[in-house]
Amino acid sequence: MTSGIITASYIAASALFIMALGGLAHQESARRGNFYGMLGMAIAVGVTIVGLVSNNYGLLVGGIVVGGIIGYILAQRVEMTSMPELVAILHSLVGLAAVFVGWANALEHAPLTGVAQSIHAVETYLGILIGAMTFSGSVMAYLKLSGKIGGRPLQLPGRHLFNIALGVIALYFMIQYMDTAATGGVFELTVMTIIALVFGVHMVAAIGGADMPVVVSMLNSYSGWAAAAMGFMLGNDLLIVVGALVGSSGAILSYIMCKAMNRKFLNVIFGGIGQKASSGGPAGPAGNAEDIRSVESDEAADMLLNAKEVMILPGYGMAVAQAQHTVFEITKKLRDKGINVRFGIHPVAGRMPGHMNVLLAEAKVPYDIVYEMEEINEDFPNVDVSIVIGANDIVNPAAQEVPDSPIAGMPVLEPWNGKQTIVMKRSMGTGYAGVDNPLFYKENTRMLFGDAKERLDQILKAIS
Ligand code: TAP
Repeated sequence: MTSGIITASYIAASALFIMALGGLAHQESARRGNFYGMLGMAIAVGVTIVGLVSNNYGLLVGGIVVGGIIGYILAQRVEMTSMPELVAILHSLVGLAAVFVGWANALEHAPLTGVAQSIHAVETYLGILIGAMTFSGSVMAYLKLSGKIGGRPLQLPGRHLFNIALGVIALYFMIQYMDTAATGGVFELTVMTIIALVFGVHMVAAIGGADMPVVVSMLNSYSGWAAAAMGFMLGNDLLIVVGALVGSSGAILSYIMCKAMNRKFLNVIFGGIGQKASSGGPAGPAGNAEDIRSVESDEAADMLLNAKEVMILPGYGMAVAQAQHTVFEITKKLRDKGINVRFGIHPVAGRMPGHMNVLLAEAKVPYDIVYEMEEINEDFPNVDVSIVIGANDIVNPAAQEVPDSPIAGMPVLEPWNGKQTIVMKRSMGTGYAGVDNPLFYKENTRMLFGDAKERLDQILKAIS
């Protein structure tokens, strides 16, 4: 295969990746976007194997087969609710690949001199640094998101100084490595790899449960930069382009997440620079037990039937209960009776960006009755009944009312401004951020306890 064909194929693959990102920006075009991405990847991998690889075919095919089988089994088994953990652990593999490529590149490469040698040393050093940070940070994020370790932020005394010290040492060894790279530089690379691994763990450990959405998108960005670094080390333009696309789109998503949660990016990443450290843990009940008013499914059904305006606010519990199809059945029945039913979606509802939109699209809920939080928050005074389905943090007034709450300042959906709210959940337990919710104790709130799917089935029966 000539280098011209390889270059042309790489340009086509890059264009397909850009079209994939464009497609993924809207629900209607997301499927097409995914297809473009898969086609681009097939071209990229196919052309690289046929055009660039010249030996070790057995190893290559073996790796693709084993990796493909593991990926297929994982994709079949993973629950929608465990997707963020899977994404985090996959990011760790990109980081690990960058570390291996970097070390291989450092230990064996064509003899270089002068500026070429310096450039090679810097790109190798930075590639391993970003890769190792991404690897350990992603493993830590996986452990947190899967609940294998607690979500409380680790707030070591002097943690900012510790981070700065790690950064200074890494810089010092990079300068050293530029001199020693030609003769090995193994010591400098080893020290830096350890520093980067420690930094990755510390950075993610310092981030509290409520800020984890930003971590998921930030690690997505890092994995892109790790891939771009690999592209520089291997002299592969397509890897540089793809890495930069992933890196910058992940960075934009982190920015959007920060905006949605009213957080400053640096505060999240460095565990609270310039802000008062919050406890990060439960602050105790937000009301008196006697203020909790519970209802049964048939009463909830009556409330819905007597309403003119209904707002459905889904959260993580709807995903756990897999209640989206029943929700849509209820929506259709109510709309047939002339009741205006709309959905309000918080940007960090569930456990991954767009989680609720995916579930609602799967249940075939029309897009034109699904609204973003900022589009409908002002409408709540006109809403007769809001029905909160397995959501907690995203409808927690403590974000506005309790200044030292771990979620203080995060914009939330405001059903309490409507006439009545039904909250569906199994207990008085807290949500992801571990914060009790004053909404459950409000006078116009009714708690409907139980599994969301079972309760919604009963409501559907009652209104049918
Ligand atoms: P959460 O605050 O986690 O609340 C979900 C609620 O669902 C829980 O309080 C739980 O209460 C209830 N629930 C669980 N299973 C249920 C079932 N089978 N039936 C009925 N209820 C059930 O969810 P949210 O309001 O969607 O907020 C999302 C949280 O996750 C935010 O703190 C966000 O920062 C964080 N987060 C988001 C992301 C992204 S990108 N979206 C990523 C990581 C973290 P019971 O146990 O009492 O039933």
